[in-house]
Amino acid sequence: MGLILLMVASSSTWADSLQVLHWWKSTSEHKAVDFLAGKLTQENILWRDAVIPSGSGIGAGIVLKSRVLSGNAPEVAQLNGVLIGEWAELGLLLEFDAVGSVGKWDKILFPSVWSLTQSKGHVVAAPLGIHRINTLFVNRKLFKKYDLALPESWDDFELAAKKLQQAGIIPLAQSSEPWQLATLFETLVLSEAGAGFYNDIFVKKEQSAFFDARFGQALKRFRSLKKWMPTPLQDRSWDELARQFADGGAAMMVMGDWVKAELNAWGLATDVGFACMAVPQTENYHLYDIDTLVMLAGDGSHRAAQERLAQLVLSPAVQVEYNQIKGSVPVLRNPDMSKMDSCARTSWKLFARGGSTQVPSLAHRMATDETSKDAIIAEIYRFFMDDQVTVNDTQRRLGAIARSLKKI
Ligand code: BGC
Repeated sequence: MGLILLMVASSSTWADSLQVLHWWKSTSEHKAVDFLAGKLTQENILWRDAVIPSGSGIGAGIVLKSRVLSGNAPEVAQLNGVLIGEWAELGLLLEFDAVGSVGKWDKILFPSVWSLTQSKGHVVAAPLGIHRINTLFVNRKLFKKYDLALPESWDDFELAAKKLQQAGIIPLAQSSEPWQLATLFETLVLSEAGAGFYNDIFVKKEQSAFFDARFGQALKRFRSLKKWMPTPLQDRSWDELARQFADGGAAMMVMGDWVKAELNAWGLATDVGFACMAVPQTENYHLYDIDTLVMLAGDGSHRAAQERLAQLVLSPAVQVEYNQIKGSVPVLRNPDMSKMDSCARTSWKLFARGGSTQVPSLAHRMATDETSKDAIIAEIYRFFMDDQVTVNDTQRRLGAIARSLKKI
């Protein structure tokens, strides 16, 4: 009651309020949201939280779409990747070119991030941070206990997995959620075939790529990893799995580096409680996912507050602190790196190399449109969950689907 009164009393002093729709609900995600909300409060703008918990934002995307369609859009939303351009083209996003030009976004942002924030030459999105997807987390305590080498190759991985399983430990934490399976699978495609092929298949959706032997190999590796996962595979959230990993119930986990933030938030220090490595054969790649805020155009009455938020997000101090909490790295070309841990340093430096080092995540919406992504993930899921479905079946089905998918 006291708290409610306090909120009512202080709400009259707010210059404006912004409802922000996002999907961050884990411990570290929550902390990151609190941090941003606190920064906005200092500007006398209230952050009205609209959280739709859903790993990788599937539920949040659905709610956002239905709210926009029913004329009840929030002022701000987390919208990542290819969707930004699609929504901008529909005229749903506020353009805030002045914020971009005053802040010299063209100079301070990585070129690929700068292009992601624009649609038809207008600035329509404020990027928060860059996550690395091809990350293999290793429980150091368990690896030490069983005297195992950190897996630099698939052979190391297999050797360690075998010994761990013999000791009664689940070698690889994994959920049956389709987006989590797809997150693992895309790292395997990259591992098996490199960035050029990855782009042919997931960005260009070339039909021939789906029939390629390298894609078949990635499917085989995917299925062969099943024996190192819990049986039966359950539909668990990524943070539940991270908890199992942290508690020593599972020894390894492949997931975006938001897991690092979660482990840190629970008191496990990077390089001490766990090692953060690249998935074997992907050390030279940065399979990325960029978290981004967009401002919904609405009737324009919140423009000043929305622009202020966009400005704040790109301020050097916010970039450093926010990304430390979230496990991602700054979108800036020249950030303060002094507080970055080894995992963040490696991630930022690799991303900064640009070019073919940067590989857009399929599962996290950076590679292709939503329909194509969903169609591909559905087949990958089907292949993984049903051992009766063969590699050839899946290649054939995806090849057929590829013919009808939108080409960028
Ligand atoms: C987002 C991350 C988030 C993760 C888990 C990813 O798609 O980019 O910010 O922590 O999903 O929900």
